[in-house]
Amino acid sequence: MGPQPYVERYVVQGGVFDAIGEASTQLKSVLKMLGIPSDITRRATVVAYEAEMNLVIHAGGGEITASVFPDRLELFVRDEGPGIPDIPLAMKEGYSTATDEIREMGFGAGMGLPNMKRNSDSLDVRSEVGKGTSLFAVIRFPSDPVQQPVKEG
Ligand SMILES: Nc1ncnc2c1ncn2[C@@H]1O[C@H](COP(=O)(O)OP(=O)(O)OP(=O)(O)O)[C@@H](O)[C@H]1O
Ligand SMILES: [Mg+2]
Repeated sequence: MGPQPYVERYVVQGGVFDAIGEASTQLKSVLKMLGIPSDITRRATVVAYEAEMNLVIHAGGGEITASVFPDRLELFVRDEGPGIPDIPLAMKEGYSTATDEIREMGFGAGMGLPNMKRNSDSLDVRSEVGKGTSLFAVIRFPSDPVQQPVKEG
């Protein structure tokens, strides 16, 4: 049995643009407070921010659960929005279904999912059209150098 993770859960409202970034900003300060290395915190904040934006813009809201284990951070994001019909297509840089109105607000470059993938060690996206979408991202912490002595020779 592993140790219990430290868990934070954020509910994100759909369509509320002035609150965008609230959940990821809160997560960032929690990770800082827990003493998570700054590079890990930065990557986790990027993943959470992109997920949060997608919940607001595409999904009609949802929730983000962050679980901090001794060796990794897990982010689980779920919504009951329209779903993603073609996940490999949605993962491509520049692919977006955002409206002109959304683009005028500065979103919809089609970089969110690729950015999430780049900043996590693994990203699993599942979706069912008409049911919703779930994402599972893992960001591993650098292993303790004390436990990995440099080999001589
Ligand atoms: N939670 C979701 N529910 C439904 N569709 C989604 C969801 N997340 C992403 N998508 C679909 O995948 C596309 C690509 O998402 P991605 O985050 O990469 O880009 P974007 O949100 O359109 O633009 P950006 O993230 O650069 O502002 C979206 O345009 C949308 O069609
Ligand atoms: Mg996005």
